[in-house]
Amino acid sequence: MICESENKLNPKFESLKIKGRCSLQGRIKISGAKNSALVLLAASLLTKDTVYLTNVPDLSDIRKMKNILKSIGVKIKDNDKEKVLINSENLHFGNIAHNSVNELRASFFCIGPLLSMLGKASLALPGGCNIGKRPIEEHLKGLKQLGATIEEKDGFVNARINSNKRRLKGTHIKLGCPSVGATETLIMAAVLAEGQTIISNAAREPEIQDLCEMLNKMGAKITRAGTSKVYIEGVNYLNGCSHEVIPDRIEAGTFLIAAAATLSCITVSPVIPSHLKSLLQKLKESGSDISIRDDAISIKTKTIKGVNIETAPFPGFPTDLQAPFTALMLKATGKSIIKETIFENRMNHIELLNKMGASIKLENNIATVSGVKKLYGRHLKGSDLRSTAAIVIAALMADNPSLVEGLEHLDRGYEDFEFKFKKLGANLKRGLTENISDISYNQDFFINDVQNSYAA
Ligand code: UD1
Repeated sequence: MICESENKLNPKFESLKIKGRCSLQGRIKISGAKNSALVLLAASLLTKDTVYLTNVPDLSDIRKMKNILKSIGVKIKDNDKEKVLINSENLHFGNIAHNSVNELRASFFCIGPLLSMLGKASLALPGGCNIGKRPIEEHLKGLKQLGATIEEKDGFVNARINSNKRRLKGTHIKLGCPSVGATETLIMAAVLAEGQTIISNAAREPEIQDLCEMLNKMGAKITRAGTSKVYIEGVNYLNGCSHEVIPDRIEAGTFLIAAAATLSCITVSPVIPSHLKSLLQKLKESGSDISIRDDAISIKTKTIKGVNIETAPFPGFPTDLQAPFTALMLKATGKSIIKETIFENRMNHIELLNKMGASIKLENNIATVSGVKKLYGRHLKGSDLRSTAAIVIAALMADNPSLVEGLEHLDRGYEDFEFKFKKLGANLKRGLTENISDISYNQDFFINDVQNSYAA
């Protein structure tokens, strides 16, 4: 968030002041999964009945999605914190504009439900973002195979069903890559299509399983969700339902990594432990003790060894945890090799971590981390959601305080971020600072400033 300072000439930015040498202890509650909640909100368009979602995280991405849905006639009632009623009885056609789609790529997921319910949809073509080009040709190819006519014009995707029946037609779609978004878009388009759709090479992420579980509650006939071949038998209509969003595996993973990085002992719950299998395996390899009891995971770390990771589609190591895990490796004994294979530009944290005293060489999306003894607090700015989380973890490990900007990214994906860290004993505080480019970095002044602000 950018705020105007009093004299209007120097805009001020929200930042987190973080005291280093932190140790965490205790238990925190994990929120509902952002990536599930976003797609479930889109799926709610597939019925004229009311859908009641619980465990919806209060995040800026979720608020944006709700506003986009409201702009096309959807009634949304936030019944209580984390409980949302969605009614799409008055859903109407409307262009979903560039600023909406650019601010929230996930709003493009609405294309499938809009096509099925209205016979047409018009959404701005999502561009790339800070982590990569993020093409959508798999979404569009699949929709065409289901019988939609797709035209790209003036930066918009205009989709239409031309048949008299105004219904898509089931078919066999083989995805070129197991894209999470394309699998979700095509499942949502196929549930009301005529006949059977099979999606091969489908993504298997837990958020897709959550989507299919909710759609089946609504009356859809989806089988083998969570495998690479999903079967969808089209039905004539869907009903409303109540559904609880699954816990956020990425948020849980971020806190577990932060605990390991600070040689701490914490418990996160509720979680679905099987969703975090690949991370837990790597945490154990690197020296953490992990114990699982029902829906809670506890971690206790006394030592950190360098381990290698390579990101991959689920059930592989999640790309969303690559940056936080890189932070964990900074003070590990020995070397670790971190390979990003999903997004072409997801190494934005490396340069910033090196500024903190890390020793990382980056070549072709492969980071070689040599563990160091000390990290230094710095004034840094994160450029995307997970790289900002990685910087915060490094700041908690550093020998002196840090100031981290880019909180608008954190607020997209982590509910009550500082509150949860404070509950675990971290010393961090949100405040306003001058634009980073205006600040000449003076380590002594900066440290005093940060320390004084803790006293306040
Ligand atoms: C989703 C998640 C994001 C996560 C990512 C991978 C949401 C809102 N976001 O993003 O947090 O990091 O999955 O787990 O759920 N690709 C193509 N063509 C396409 C579509 C994708 O080549 O038409 C490629 C992408 O460039 C990328 C890979 O497939 O290299 C994975 O992308 P995808 O699974 O589609 O990610 P999203 O659904 O955008």
